[in-house]
Amino acid sequence: MAVTIQQLTKWKQQHRSIVCLTAWDYSLARVLDKAGVDLILVGDSLAMVGLGHANTLPVTLDEMIHHAKAVCRGVERALVVCDLPFMSYQASISQAIKAAGKVLKEAGVSAVKLEGGHPRIIDTVAELTAIGIPVMGHVGLTPQSVRILGYKQQGKTEVAANKIIDEAIALEQAGAFAIILEHIPGELAATITSKLAIPTIGIGAGNQCDGQVLVTADLLGLSASQPPFAKAYVDLTKIITDAVGDFSREVRDRTFPSESR
Ligand code: KIV
Repeated sequence: MAVTIQQLTKWKQQHRSIVCLTAWDYSLARVLDKAGVDLILVGDSLAMVGLGHANTLPVTLDEMIHHAKAVCRGVERALVVCDLPFMSYQASISQAIKAAGKVLKEAGVSAVKLEGGHPRIIDTVAELTAIGIPVMGHVGLTPQSVRILGYKQQGKTEVAANKIIDEAIALEQAGAFAIILEHIPGELAATITSKLAIPTIGIGAGNQCDGQVLVTADLLGLSASQPPFAKAYVDLTKIITDAVGDFSREVRDRTFPSESR
């Protein structure tokens, strides 16, 4: 059965951890879905791992939609969420509605994600959910604010931690159905998780969140560089390099294709 946003809340109540990974094309999405991933995020990390940019800022709404369409074609079960990219929603609520509406209509995803917990963002989340667009929040380290925050861990002082707690609560009250907690102390993530009825999905936020997400290129060992909290479960860079080496050798010594092929 296809995963719904209501199912995610039930899983939180049942203490059944939610498995989330990012995807940026059809083939990867198909494999992740068949492997049983619950939630597939077309993250704006696409800018870095799929398009080769130095950060997430350059990716456009049309590029996100292009990739989200491909991901949706490969998914039968997982809930697919698409990031609203930098400057596609920050200017005004009306800009956010148009961007989120376009993503849902054209890409066919089930929900959008946007970053931050500033009152302007909270108002945007409230307006989007009021018109039927499900929203996932994202607090802590928010990569679209890299020019201000860098990639440092957030919420380390009591004041900073309380601010993130308040933002998470405000996002829930505004109607968000889940929240990404990125690169904050595990204890803070546990506190937020216990205060919210909606699920928290952690990345670099300890093991007490309701689920975990990784950028799939990091998990597969394909990233040019990866954050300290990521874990590579396989070294696909080496596997691909070896396979390409084998192919190259066989092409050069004319053993591929074999005569029978
Ligand atoms: O863009 C992305 O991949 C994300 C994850 C890091 C949560 O937002």
